[in-house]
Amino acid sequence: MKLFLDTADVEAVRKAQATGLLDGVTTNPSKVVQTGRRFREVVADICRATPGPVSAEAMGETADALVADAQKIAAIAPNVVVKIPMTVAGLPAARILESQHNVRVNVTMVFSATQALLAMKTGASYVSIVLSRLDAVANESDLLVRDTMAIKRNYGFRSEIIGASLKTQNHVLSCLRAGVDVATVPDSLFFQMFKHPLTDLGLAEFATDWAKVPK
Ligand code: E4P
Repeated sequence: MKLFLDTADVEAVRKAQATGLLDGVTTNPSKVVQTGRRFREVVADICRATPGPVSAEAMGETADALVADAQKIAAIAPNVVVKIPMTVAGLPAARILESQHNVRVNVTMVFSATQALLAMKTGASYVSIVLSRLDAVANESDLLVRDTMAIKRNYGFRSEIIGASLKTQNHVLSCLRAGVDVATVPDSLFFQMFKHPLTDLGLAEFATDWAKVPK
């Protein structure tokens, strides 16, 4: 499974990139606004900080407006993927961008298996299913994960499924068990995954005993 960082914090991307385990980045407008910086500059900096795909969100009420905005965003860097909303206007835009403009798309804000089906049918490179926001209103994220992966397998869709809005290691496990293609996690969760109290305890014991070993 690929691991993406879900952030607009360029330093966090650099830190995760240094582990050699980062496969890409996703952002959204709510994360970009926290930086206080211009959208294009943030996206360009993240694209320089990682060679992996970097999802940045297009805005628009119509398919034409989304296609136009997406093309501008795609021009920022070769590794940009454009996030397109899971709406009636968004899905035609996703299809047009993938099939006519060679722009990789991530259909975002998918909360049901039937939405996931529609998003996959556009030929989108990525489809983001949103776990913790769904759990906040109905404890159904595990079912969404399993159903989405069953649809992908049963019908041979090529979209990579991103488990998004993951807040806990249980969310990551749910994705791993179902064979989800990508997990996008906040940097706090990315680094939490390295840790276990028994690892620290065992290594501290080894260090203590190593000091007593004749050398
Ligand atoms: C991932 O690509 C999105 O940014 C995510 O679905 C939203 O995450 P959030 O719930 O942490 O804002």
